[in-house]
Amino acid sequence: MALVCLGLEGTAHSFGAGIVTSKGKVLANEWDMLKPSQGGIHPREASRHHSDLGPGIICRAMETAGMGYKDINLIAFSRGPGLGPCLRTTATMARTLALKLDIPLIDVNHCVAHIEIGSLESRFEDPVTVYVSGGNTQVIAFAGGRFRTFGETLDIAIGNMLDVLGRYLGMEFPAGPLIEKEARAGRDFHSLPYSVKGMDISYSGMLTAAKKLVSDGVPIPDICYSVQETAFGMLAEIAERALAHTKKDELLLTGGVARNDRLTEILTGVSERHGARFHRVSPSLAGDQGAMIAWNGILQYESGHEIEVESSYVLPKWRTDEQDILWRH
Ligand code: ATP
Ligand code: FE2
Repeated sequence: MALVCLGLEGTAHSFGAGIVTSKGKVLANEWDMLKPSQGGIHPREASRHHSDLGPGIICRAMETAGMGYKDINLIAFSRGPGLGPCLRTTATMARTLALKLDIPLIDVNHCVAHIEIGSLESRFEDPVTVYVSGGNTQVIAFAGGRFRTFGETLDIAIGNMLDVLGRYLGMEFPAGPLIEKEARAGRDFHSLPYSVKGMDISYSGMLTAAKKLVSDGVPIPDICYSVQETAFGMLAEIAERALAHTKKDELLLTGGVARNDRLTEILTGVSERHGARFHRVSPSLAGDQGAMIAWNGILQYESGHEIEVESSYVLPKWRTDEQDILWRH
């Protein structure tokens, strides 16, 4: 009989509840995102959003899956990395459910969950992963029992860079999709700081220069086009080097920014040059959601891991390479 896991995601502004079976079937994936009124995310406001809406989102997931609580075998939750208040609210819901239903509790690393939901969907065995979101920009590959970061941003994440630029341009949050749309109409390329340092990249200089283009009166589509080409070009360069270095033959694109078609096109080109297969995680599994947490809960439980409620404190700074990946050999 297949196991059924309920996964709760709540590291930042989104709260999600996903239900996945041990055969990898996603039965439900419900979520809601708090849109910050202005500026960045306020951790307390976001955790309040999770505690207000979380129970309803969990109920919706149960209804979508057509299940009762007695059908759930495992509870998984996003233990980190993320904002402390959001993590604690989500963990409290997960602990309560695990105790009440008397079923195992499993702690999940959010970044690892983004990678593994991509591997589930693509059926890739051992990809180089480009993980791009509002809070993370990393090129990752499995080596020596852990997911190793081969390259990453030295300052701001790519999604954050797009959102900050978008806010400067008067766009709504999240700005990534709006910038993508504007960029399609861009004609003139304006050179911006292209910053690759070894295997790492940096976006803050580019952001400052892009803001200057705005005050210089450069048309918005041209700015968006130039920003995308430069930012994605840097990522492509380090992804290409990671493929060459690791000699792996699969390239996976995951995280919220994976919804971008132009980035997908550029990385498709990279994988073709290396004879690697390419997969972009589908839009419903790209951003923050509970199905990826549930799937990782299954992988960990099947490899013998669960956590006691007493020791399930959250880990706001939990890095991708700090977890032993028991289910991969
Ligand atoms: P993490 O905690 O993993 O860093 P997150 O909280 O940023 O995740 P995600 O849903 O993974 O949440 O990613 C959201 C980001 O994706 C936002 O910065 C948003 O602008 C960006 N994004 C969404 N769609 C697109 C798109 N089409 N093009 C570029 N960026 C996009
Ligand atoms: Fe995420």
